[in-house]
Amino acid sequence: MQMDMNKPMQLLGGLSAEEFMRDYWQKKPLLIKQAFPNFKMPIPLERLRTLASFEGVESRMVRRNGEEWLLDRGPLEEIPTNDMPNWSLLVQSMDLHEQAFYDMAQNFRFIPDARFDDVMVSLASIGGGVGPHFDTYDVFLLQGNGSRTWRISQQEDQELIPDLPCRILKNFKPENEWVLEPGDMLYLPPQCAHDGIADTNDCVTISFGFRTLSLANMARGVLEAAIDQISVQSGLGIGIYSEPLIDGYKVDGLYSDPQQVPVSNPAQIPESMIEQSLEALKNIKYNDKLASRFLGCWLTEPNKVAEFEFNEEELNIEDMSPETILRLDIKSKMLYRNNEVYINGEVVEAPLNEILKTLADDRKITAELANTSDELTFELLHRWLDDGWLICD
Ligand code: SIN
Ligand code: CO
Repeated sequence: MQMDMNKPMQLLGGLSAEEFMRDYWQKKPLLIKQAFPNFKMPIPLERLRTLASFEGVESRMVRRNGEEWLLDRGPLEEIPTNDMPNWSLLVQSMDLHEQAFYDMAQNFRFIPDARFDDVMVSLASIGGGVGPHFDTYDVFLLQGNGSRTWRISQQEDQELIPDLPCRILKNFKPENEWVLEPGDMLYLPPQCAHDGIADTNDCVTISFGFRTLSLANMARGVLEAAIDQISVQSGLGIGIYSEPLIDGYKVDGLYSDPQQVPVSNPAQIPESMIEQSLEALKNIKYNDKLASRFLGCWLTEPNKVAEFEFNEEELNIEDMSPETILRLDIKSKMLYRNNEVYINGEVVEAPLNEILKTLADDRKITAELANTSDELTFELLHRWLDDGWLICD
């Protein structure tokens, strides 16, 4: 991907990607006026209501009635009309449901794909919002339609009001307040308290969310990958992180206790058994290959609402004109590290090469480039075309 990281960007209010990442990312909020100049909603607002009624779409409705908060999870059958105040409809993974939001999210790819989560779009009537709260996410909140007043605070107090269906801060003390109009955007780092209240009956906020992984999950995943490697290499079965083999995960030998003396307390676990278990563990290397295996497979797992459409027609890259574009489907996720490539939760059989790297970074390649593939890569590209992971236009 060719991008000048030192070039001022309208998206970042004139900052370069380099400056934004250095001074704001994970550090402090940034208000960006007209990040998307003259912004117009790419879909009719009605479409959000329709999507929220579908089974395969994750949505929720938050309503406020004085001090009372009500939460309904989709599919939603009844959504209040726009002239009813104080409600907000939130639809997740809009980047997978509407190409236009996927395209908008591409603007943020100076941030690693591994950190990207989804685009959430909310539609709120006047007074609507989800209340003062904080997220563990980095988020860019773009005003899509109407206007909304945002109040934010970098307060330390994160106490929540108990027994509510939504996470609402007990003592929200706003430090800044801004009114966002279409095209304006607010970046918030994780833990920054915020409250956005719709000022109009057709208020739309488009949130580009970047998940922050918990270290507990990361450590657990590396251990899981180690378990899968030991299991497959010791003939104890396969797991999602077992193929292909990573050297050095075979634990040989059997427990032995030729020195065992007779016991008068037979229920007690022998100390040598404890010692030999721990000794066996010393064979396991928690190395970068294991971490990459887990992260690559886990982070490329398709979203739970993603369904790929098999391609019925026989597509042959050799028959395509050189300028035909092969692109990853919007639901496909692809990452790589060193020689290993990951796509949609799997390790790719071929090692990283120029074609796979370009496909992952640019999310597209020309048929001309694809036609320079080695046999294995060529076969993979065809398989992905058949499975609908890759599409051509
Ligand atoms: C929204 O209301 O669209 C944004 C929700 C949030 O503050 O996380
Ligand atoms: Co939030």
